[in-house]
Parts: sequence; structure tokens; C-alpha cells
Amino acid sequence: MSKKIKIPLTKRCVELFKAFETNEEVILHSLQVNKVALYVAEKLQKDKKKLNLDLIDKASLLHDMAKNKSKSIKGHHSEIAYHNLIVEYPEVAKIVRSHRTIAILGNKSKPKTWEEKIVYYANQIVNGDQIVLLEQKLRHNIEKHRKSKNKRLKAYEKTYQIEKKILKTLDITPGDLVSLNEKPFIYSVKTFLPNKICIE
Ligand SMILES: [Fe+2]
Repeated sequence: MSKKIKIPLTKRCVELFKAFETNEEVILHSLQVNKVALYVAEKLQKDKKKLNLDLIDKASLLHDMAKNKSKSIKGHHSEIAYHNLIVEYPEVAKIVRSHRTIAILGNKSKPKTWEEKIVYYANQIVNGDQIVLLEQKLRHNIEKHRKSKNKRLKAYEKTYQIEKKILKTLDITPGDLVSLNEKPFIYSVKTFLPNKICIE
């Protein structure tokens, strides 16, 4: 019998964002990553890849949940989130941990499952709340973390391999993914940001 994976309900994601004081900027970014991840996952699923869409859905939503806490708690936000999710939702925690850009360089930390690779890749092509080309995100990343430029270039090469595999299977171009900017998020913004005034 296959092991039952525990995945948080949307209601629980709302509570986690509240508990971690995840801000609007991070939530909008996460909604965009969530849209890309699910788009890719649903298409790969059709290619007979066995994927847990609910797992990808919630892990992509929560991957940056601790980003605003990393200023007050020591450690990278992916690690903070991992330690807070591991007991209740171990599979979600593992995906969240491996989303860090340089995680791809470590044998232990790199995204290994398709669920991990999809969330990792989706995050790599979302800059702020916009879907961009992988090269654009890299440039932004280097600009932000000049000291780790070489590591980031290496991470990019590996991410590019994942991108190549995904795009080949999906038979789409990077531009097709960028054009998803015009599509609405999967979730209503109001679900996570009830006070935000927006036209949806
Ligand atoms: Fe992110």
C-alpha cells in the first residue's frame, strides 16, 4: 500500500502565511510560481509522468512562506520553512527546502523528484510577481548576490538542463511560459490577501 502523503489544505496555508507574517510581495510572487508550477505539472502529467499535483500546488505556494522571518530568525528562509513543516508535512518540507537557487549544486540538497524540480524551476523563472526568461532571473540574481556570482552561474547551467528537459517534453518555448503572465492566478488573491484592493 502506498504511503499517504499529508498535504496542507488551502486554509492551513492561509494560517501559515499569517503565522510567518508573509508579506504581500512574497505572496504575489508565490501565486505566480504556483501558476507556473501547476501549468508545467499538468502538462507533464499528460506525458504519463506520475505527479502529485496537490503536493506541487501547496509546496509552490509555501516555498517562500518564511522569507520575511529570515530577517529575525537566523538561517536561510528555505531552511526555516523546512524545519517548521517537516513534522506535519514532510513531503512539502522537502520540496520547500530544495527550492533555494544554490541547492541544485549539492548532491544532497538538489531537487531530485519531478515535484521538486518543477517547483525549483518555476521559482527560477519568476522574478517578483512576473514570469521572466531564465537568463533575466539569473541577471537579477547576480546583481543581488554579487559575491556568489560563480555559484549562481553554475546553478544556472544545471537549471538550464531542467528547463531544456521540461520544454522538450511540453513542446513549448520559454516565451510560452512568459505569456502566462496574462493568465490569472489559480487562486483568488483575496484568499491570501483579504484586504488587498484588486481587480480580478
Ligand atoms: Fe520564490
